[in-house]
Amino acid sequence: MRETIFTVPIDKTGWKVQDGSGAVQFSWNYDSSREQLLNLYEKGKRRQWDAKIRIDWDLEIDHSNPLGSSDEMIPLFGSPTWTKLSQKNKIELRRHIVAWQFSQFLHGEQGALICASKIVQTVPELDAKYYAATQVFDEARHMEVYSTYLDKLGLAYPINPNLKSLLEDVLTDSRWDMTYLGMQVLIEGLALAAFGLIRNFTTNELGRTITAYVMQDEARHVTFGRNALKDFYPQLSSAERQEREEFAAEACLSMRDRFLSEEVWATLGYDVSECVNWMKNSPGQIQFRSFLFMRIVPILRDIGLWGPTIRESFEKMGIIGFADTDVDEMMKDDEAQANAFDKRRVNQVRETIAAAESDSPGLDLT
Ligand SMILES: [Fe+2]
Ligand SMILES: [Fe+2]
Repeated sequence: MRETIFTVPIDKTGWKVQDGSGAVQFSWNYDSSREQLLNLYEKGKRRQWDAKIRIDWDLEIDHSNPLGSSDEMIPLFGSPTWTKLSQKNKIELRRHIVAWQFSQFLHGEQGALICASKIVQTVPELDAKYYAATQVFDEARHMEVYSTYLDKLGLAYPINPNLKSLLEDVLTDSRWDMTYLGMQVLIEGLALAAFGLIRNFTTNELGRTITAYVMQDEARHVTFGRNALKDFYPQLSSAERQEREEFAAEACLSMRDRFLSEEVWATLGYDVSECVNWMKNSPGQIQFRSFLFMRIVPILRDIGLWGPTIRESFEKMGIIGFADTDVDEMMKDDEAQANAFDKRRVNQVRETIAAAESDSPGLDLT
């Protein structure tokens, strides 16, 4: 809608509502249109899906190995604790690790739902409000998917205290860009890398399908945060950018050092400090945790948070090399992989119908 048709110029009728948690901003600029954000909004609308229809919930979970992953993917593989475990213990461990991981995905999705709805309220531009509204619904669907999955698995964990504190930091900051930075760039960037490991290196069809579909949406969410911040950060003073850099560097360090699954080790009655020690020091685990930053590092560089604070911190963490990762290429691949899962499902349905028809010619399958 053209702003020229208003009876009073819109710059005279701006409106912010203080709601206690931050400023809720209305925008009367219904014509605001940054092409990239509007394209993303259009894509977000077209890509809505129904978790009950798109996913075949009849696919089985093997409770002795829910994701169909190799021993090497178990964080304690090769550790002193691992050598003491019986076959039965190892089966139990696998199930608990998947339950813990997917539970954190579920709680993180709820955090994303709340952050996206907060962005709808606080971001000044209307194109960003439009897009964030599609994200709100995406995140609700992701919660539906993960909670259905956990029900099927029959085991769930509460929110990890470190995830809780990170979400609290993001949610209590009233500045809209901090919500984007914390959620769309850092938490979702880390989640995308973790999802990628499941989609690419496990074998259970249900777990992989869910992950591929969620990733297809998440890639859009990260792009949204990236585009919005890329426009905004050059407008900030260097002191303001420095504050964001310090927040991002600190959050990355805490995500690397604190997500050590202690709740699982405690629940299973393992020696928690022995397990944590292994998680912190084994070369395989260090490499695994570095991999989780593959998408975050190039995006921080791209949005202009790339001063000495971040660079030095990433050098120390051994993840600076990810700065040149081609994130656009990875996002394209996320899209293509989700489409491949769709194609497989369509083919399966067609084959089932064809088989039923050949078994009972003339059967009405409509
Ligand atoms: Fe999500
Ligand atoms: Fe998301």
